[in-house]
Amino acid sequence: MSAGPDLGVELGPLRLRNPVLAASGTFGYGLEFLPFLDLGELGGFVTKGLSPRPRRGNPPPRIVETPAGMLNTIGLQNVGVDAFLADKLPCLAAYRTAVIANVFGETVDEYVEVCRKLDGAPGLAGIELNVSCPNVDAGGQVFGTDPIALGRVVAACRRATSLPLVVKLSPNVTDITVTARAAADAGADVLSLVNTFVGMAIDVERRRPVLTRVSGGLSGPAIRPLAVWLTWQVRQAVSLPLIGIGGIVEAADAIEFLLAGASAVQVGTANFVHPDAALAVRRGIEDYLRRHGLASVRALIGALETGARA
Ligand SMILES: Cc1cc2nc3c(=O)[nH]c(=O)nc-3n(C[C@H](O)[C@H](O)[C@H](O)COP(=O)(O)O)c2cc1C
Repeated sequence: MSAGPDLGVELGPLRLRNPVLAASGTFGYGLEFLPFLDLGELGGFVTKGLSPRPRRGNPPPRIVETPAGMLNTIGLQNVGVDAFLADKLPCLAAYRTAVIANVFGETVDEYVEVCRKLDGAPGLAGIELNVSCPNVDAGGQVFGTDPIALGRVVAACRRATSLPLVVKLSPNVTDITVTARAAADAGADVLSLVNTFVGMAIDVERRRPVLTRVSGGLSGPAIRPLAVWLTWQVRQAVSLPLIGIGGIVEAADAIEFLLAGASAVQVGTANFVHPDAALAVRRGIEDYLRRHGLASVRALIGALETGARA
């Protein structure tokens, strides 16, 4: 029997056995999904965002379903970096999968504190910076929407760790190529895109916002065409490897991002519908490669044809 297609991808210093990861905030700390799939069959997963100290998050209602997606305002609930290192990461060592820690803070110093603690932790494949957080030193403006603040936080984290550094871009900007370049210039190894789009839902009977914090982050299939377009734009602007995220449910969705220039993808909201969604995406990519007679998934990366139609 011939070996299957080669699914391995390299994103700068980050090597993945296959290009499908589960996205931050939709996959807990990985351990919660052990009853549903073999973590070793994924390229990897990204943890829930970690902060210097544990956070309880926002009170409910903090999730609402929307047409083809959902809005959330979880408020970055997490166990804190120390508990992650003591109680979660050691249990993940048994699985051959890339564990990427998602990091956030309210100040540059908080980001740095978490990166320093994670640096050199056994079994950690990389760090992903969630820069879609309010910067308390700048009146609450989100780090990732201001290229100067973004450059500062990325440069500081770059100095704090030698782990592969992924910077996760916010889509809530006028021109994403500006923030993509700022992150690249400040030392990111990889860019992931995108985080959720800000939106709101209104309960018309009560004439009140549905979510306690009024707005929330929109995710799911509704955002996929927006995310693919942003990936394509960033591909033209920077040379760093990219990870595509947004509304991926099945293999064809992931392949859109690969063709647009991403080297890997993350599956988020779909995990709430099918906890093994990321695995199904990986298997579907293998089927696609076989059907198209391709020996390696790398043949798909950036292979979009935009010339005149035949
Ligand atoms: C409930 C929920 C929690 C999330 N928490 C985080 C987080 O802690 N850090 C982060 O960078 N992104 C977080 N995200 C964003 C996702 O990782 C992903 O970028 C986004 O949902 C778009 O992908 P999707 O459409 O496949 O869900 C969260 C998303 C959801 C739905």
